[in-house]
Amino acid sequence: MSAFSRVDWERLRELREGFLAAQSRVQPAASADYFRSARDVELYDATFARRIEWKWAAALREVELRAREFAPKSVLDWACGTGAAVRALLSSPVGARVERVTLFERSSLAREHARRSLLALRPGLEVRIAKSPADCEAELALSSHVLDELDERAEAELEATLRRCTAAILLESGARATSRRLGRLRARLVGEFDVLAPCTHRGECGALADPEQWCHLFARPPGEVFQDALWSEFSRELEIDLRSLSYSFVALTRAPQPRDATLARILGRPRLLKGRALLDACSAEGLATLTLLQREDRQLFKSLEQPSNEPRVWRFERDGARILSPRPQ
Ligand SMILES: C[S@@+](CC[C@H](N)C(=O)[O-])C[C@H]1O[C@@H](n2cnc3c(N)ncnc32)[C@H](O)[C@@H]1O
Repeated sequence: MSAFSRVDWERLRELREGFLAAQSRVQPAASADYFRSARDVELYDATFARRIEWKWAAALREVELRAREFAPKSVLDWACGTGAAVRALLSSPVGARVERVTLFERSSLAREHARRSLLALRPGLEVRIAKSPADCEAELALSSHVLDELDERAEAELEATLRRCTAAILLESGARATSRRLGRLRARLVGEFDVLAPCTHRGECGALADPEQWCHLFARPPGEVFQDALWSEFSRELEIDLRSLSYSFVALTRAPQPRDATLARILGRPRLLKGRALLDACSAEGLATLTLLQREDRQLFKSLEQPSNEPRVWRFERDGARILSPRPQ
């Protein structure tokens, strides 16, 4: 990131307040276009979009591990903003074969920034601009951090677009209401689609079934961020903890997936206590809070101290709420 002025920090704070306000709306509502200038787009791209790319890196790593041969050639980014999701895809093995990208976005400033940044990353890429939701079609659809900004009509347009694609990866913040909204969208699409990740099953979402719960994960930002003067200023100015990068996501595909009913995905942040950890484990049986004793596997226990971009998909036996012999996949 290059240096920001007082006015820039003020504008970033304003943008963030808008995102947080959208997140806490009780009823779905559309947001107004907030990208007023090229500088707005630059500021967004250098900060919030980078953090979103780090979440995508974690989600795509999980998709890569779960479906080695999943390598789409055409991609759509619905409400692409400055292009964070496709940039992360092009940097991941999942995006190795992408030749054609369609961008749908209401802000022409953001859309143009996305187009340029994708071509800089992969010259020769075919980048197409979709004029309307009806004009959106691709093998893989992406959407990122947009649900909070959609009213019911726009969400239905997104859903109709997803139904025209072969696969979809939808990534949102880790906020409770947003994640639950994503869970409801997943529930409407499962049946037509199978689930690639993070769920190890295609059944009802265990988190959605419990009104107190929500499916969310934590990504690990690149290490150099913590040595970077501007990122520490970002953290101070916006009161954002750089270590905390929560997200929710779901990857769907029309291709039926092999199932292993004994696998569980560990969600959220493990609660570490003396000699034991409380973990939210989601499996075909639903979501359960289980206990892992440190003595069961000291190395694995230690790894729970930090968020990891290696997905915590485990196989284990159970004695009541106790995890026995955990084996990461
Ligand atoms: C928080 S930004 C996320 C941008 C990008 N997907 C990312 O992850 O960085 C939300 C984006 O959705 C766009 N947007 C919101 N409602 C939209 C709609 N109904 N149709 C198209 N774009 C929309 C906004 O202009 C903005 O670029």
